[in-house]
Amino acid sequence: MTATPEKTEKMRAIKDEVVNLTESPLYEYRTSNSYFPVIGEGSHDARIMFIGEAPGENEAKTGRPFCGASGRVLDEMLASIDLDRKSVYVTNIVKDRPPKNRDPQRDEIDLYAPFLDRQIDIIQPDVIATLGRFSMVWILDRFGSEKSKQKISQLHGQLIPVTAGFGDVMVIPLFHPAAALYRADQKQTLFDDFQVLKEFV
Ligand code: URA
Repeated sequence: MTATPEKTEKMRAIKDEVVNLTESPLYEYRTSNSYFPVIGEGSHDARIMFIGEAPGENEAKTGRPFCGASGRVLDEMLASIDLDRKSVYVTNIVKDRPPKNRDPQRDEIDLYAPFLDRQIDIIQPDVIATLGRFSMVWILDRFGSEKSKQKISQLHGQLIPVTAGFGDVMVIPLFHPAAALYRADQKQTLFDDFQVLKEFV
């Protein structure tokens, strides 16, 4: 299936709105540093959608998600199941970089999440792989799963069925790739959890 012009147009509208999101508490930080918002990247027809937390410095400088050290871990994991970036879609809940890479705040998540909601509706993935606890909790809550109250250490690597507006979707909570940067055991866990995605390749 090729991306329809409608999908491209809807994604472009999201981009335009985020670019002009002057009410964001992160807008001033973005413009005063000449940063870009990071909307997302990949196939609009992806079966697998990855959702991280928020852009870091490399991402804000380039406008591309997961293009720094965490991105290299993500690429390694994708390669382990013979997937390349072009065939998946990668985005974040919060589309602008929080200062000093601090955790995204509740008001920021609430402001940016409706854009993510629209992106999910456009792509209509078979599986949503959350990267880190913020996107895990938001996605499971969004789709009314009781599991949102559980810890990522309990849920990682599990396929959790949920129902979205367009149909049934699987959610797989994964640890954030940054966690694998300095810990070999976390990297092995991420690698093992990624193998579950093979059935969607
Ligand atoms: N961490 C994230 O959560 N997202 C990115 O795009 C980069 C690092």
